Amino acid sequence: MAIDKRIDSAKLPQHVAVIMDGNGRWAKQRGRLRTFGHNNGVKAVRDTVECAAEMGIKYLTLYAFSTENWNRPKFEINALMTLLVKTINKETKTLTDNDIKLNAIGNLDSLPSSCLKELNEAIEKTKGNTRMTLTLALSYSSKWEITEAVKAIAKNVKSGDLNVEEIDESTVDKHLCTLNIPDPELLIRTSGEHRISNFLLWQIAYAELFFTDKLWPDFERVDFEEAIIDYQGRERRFGKISEQVSA
Ligand code: FPP
Repeated sequence: MAIDKRIDSAKLPQHVAVIMDGNGRWAKQRGRLRTFGHNNGVKAVRDTVECAAEMGIKYLTLYAFSTENWNRPKFEINALMTLLVKTINKETKTLTDNDIKLNAIGNLDSLPSSCLKELNEAIEKTKGNTRMTLTLALSYSSKWEITEAVKAIAKNVKSGDLNVEEIDESTVDKHLCTLNIPDPELLIRTSGEHRISNFLLWQIAYAELFFTDKLWPDFERVDFEEAIIDYQGRERRFGKISEQVSA
């Protein structure tokens, strides 16, 4: 499908992260169970992945299940895990056909074994693909990730493999789940909520934030394109002044 002509392919973000939100409200508006919203969110996932890959985005990260989501009713958690297994199984061939590599970040050992098995198989099957890396954040939270990184760094110091003076930002980077992935330049959140919800807190230090009122199941290719156009219109100063950036 043609990409919006207003998009400058030379100024694309390398990495776009998405907080997919609003499935529950979308279902409620239709008098249906929350799980109906999750089922209908799969199309938006497919459209977003397809659009990002066609556009030339190299990394796309989707927040699919947070550490805090384990506190939801058991019925909803089970439905989400079943949906994940089913979707990963169904979409692996499409990922391969489109040269997309699947990756996952989070406390993956806490996932049900069926989900982990499906995930690992899909990761293995797609590991040679190079067009785009699709990362699913599953049982993920930034505070969990940073805590794990601190523990690993402390262990290295204790064992004598690392001096405290040597610790810098790159040490932290290397101990995060995203170690081989550049930081996102753009973070999109749907559903009208203006918060980060424990997602990639370290990595989005300089990301541009894009919020849309659209609920996730209503999010379409044009909405993703709109977010990219908006991003391309922003001046990214990284603490400098405008004249320095334009020089
Ligand atoms: C947030 O909406 C959405 C989720 C917690 C799950 C996202 C999952 C999918 C879109 C399904 C499949 C995904 C993949 C990657 C295969 P919410 O339930 O918090 O909505 P609410 O804020 O309206 O309650």
